[in-house]
Amino acid sequence: MMKSQFKDKFLWGGAVAANQLEGAWLEDGKGPNVSDVVVGIHKDGRYPALKWNATTNKWEISLDKNKVYLTHDGIDFYHRYKEDLGYMAEMGFNAFRTSISWSRIFPTGLEDIPNEAGLKFYDDLFDEMIRLGMEPVITLSHYETPLQLLIETGGWTDKGTIERWMKYVNVVFNRYKTKVKYWMTFNEINNIYRMPFAAGGILDINPIDKNEPVANLSQKSINQAIHYIFIANALTVKLCREINPDAKIGCMLSFSSCATYPNTTNPIDVMGTLQYRHQNLFFSDVMSNGEYPGYMLRQWRENDSMPEMVQEELDIIKAYTVDHIALSYYRSAVYSADASMTHDTGGAAGVKNPYLKSSPLPWAWPIDPVGLRYVLNELTDRYHKPLFIVENGIGLDEVQGPDMIDDQDRIQYIQDHLVQVNEAIADGCDVIGYLYWGPIDVVSAGTGEMRKRYGFVYVDRFNDGMGTLERRTKKSFEYYKNIIKSNGEHLFKSQ
Ligand code: BG6
Repeated sequence: MMKSQFKDKFLWGGAVAANQLEGAWLEDGKGPNVSDVVVGIHKDGRYPALKWNATTNKWEISLDKNKVYLTHDGIDFYHRYKEDLGYMAEMGFNAFRTSISWSRIFPTGLEDIPNEAGLKFYDDLFDEMIRLGMEPVITLSHYETPLQLLIETGGWTDKGTIERWMKYVNVVFNRYKTKVKYWMTFNEINNIYRMPFAAGGILDINPIDKNEPVANLSQKSINQAIHYIFIANALTVKLCREINPDAKIGCMLSFSSCATYPNTTNPIDVMGTLQYRHQNLFFSDVMSNGEYPGYMLRQWRENDSMPEMVQEELDIIKAYTVDHIALSYYRSAVYSADASMTHDTGGAAGVKNPYLKSSPLPWAWPIDPVGLRYVLNELTDRYHKPLFIVENGIGLDEVQGPDMIDDQDRIQYIQDHLVQVNEAIADGCDVIGYLYWGPIDVVSAGTGEMRKRYGFVYVDRFNDGMGTLERRTKKSFEYYKNIIKSNGEHLFKSQ
């Protein structure tokens, strides 16, 4: 029988993102960011709450009174983080991932001087994590680009964004250099094609149709943004090493799409699957190998969407590649040349896989633990670098009654996935940590709702914005605690 393969210093914990739980969206000087003007980046990320002002010739915020923007108050982590981190400490977390909300530090993204109150909040937050024995694992950008930066410049389609980003990064690297060792640059940046506004930080500031904030952006302008993001990624790696040579910095990709299988043995499906996977692996190929792969250069040439790039920029991308690959994994997909692929935050969906069960309705994401082992092996073969699982989890529709929530589906999901992580480690993959997504219920990124709960800790808040915000543990809380306490051995005990 397989035994735990997890190393002694394995990073066990959970992951969240500032915009999905902090709330306090305009408090202590914070400016609005991209997630503040959508109700779910997948659901209405192409139609942010912006309207064209014909006098200023700019987009401006125009919140929809008929929608509930749950991120504005989140789960009030901004004021309750001590209580929440207390739960994480009780489970034995030695690592906790969150993001710094860029617009807390530079409210419009355009200032020269950072907002001290924003910096102080993260000082206090990281101090508390450290006091509780948790390594802060920090994402620099998790769907939190300052909105005003997009309105004034278009965001990442503008080269000047590199400089503004570096100003932000410089400030936080210096401020937290004694507190943060693990950094990540852009969360799931391979979602930029699907969700250009919120995931990519792009806005069309010269729209042909004044009702379309992103829909008419050309492929070339999105590719240009990607190129600037790659330069920013490389310069961030460089700066990180200069400021703290002991720090570790990774790129972060949604790698559910990496587990895309061909529907048949027809070579058309097999080749199509490879090409589909390239659309995602391309991002880590550049940030980890330091070069644009030929398959993407060919596609861009043939589509006439090649971004402007000069040798000096390519040299920077080559010189500063990431230390490790951080990844999210939720599910796998099946590609068929006869069907189109659809997408959301969990990854791709093509043809139904008859061999897999799905999570309960209404989300019904396929559950494929072996797919995680497959992805870890694939990434190891391709990059030969440490891998950091920074998101994996299951969203369930749960309602707290008088008794503790018995979330067996979550317990099963974690067990099955961690058994496969264990297998991957035995295969030789250097997996440095596992951070479960959403250890406490947060606002869903994709659909902007509270109903989709991932937590080991329940939060009394609902889609209509009501609720007491009271926290209650679920059964999975104890289960995950036992896994951590036994460094994985508990996975092999019958429940
Ligand atoms: C990832 C994101 O794509 O998936 C998270 O990085 C997100 O922000 C997670 O919450 C789960 O997606 P969702 O839509 O169920 O919240």
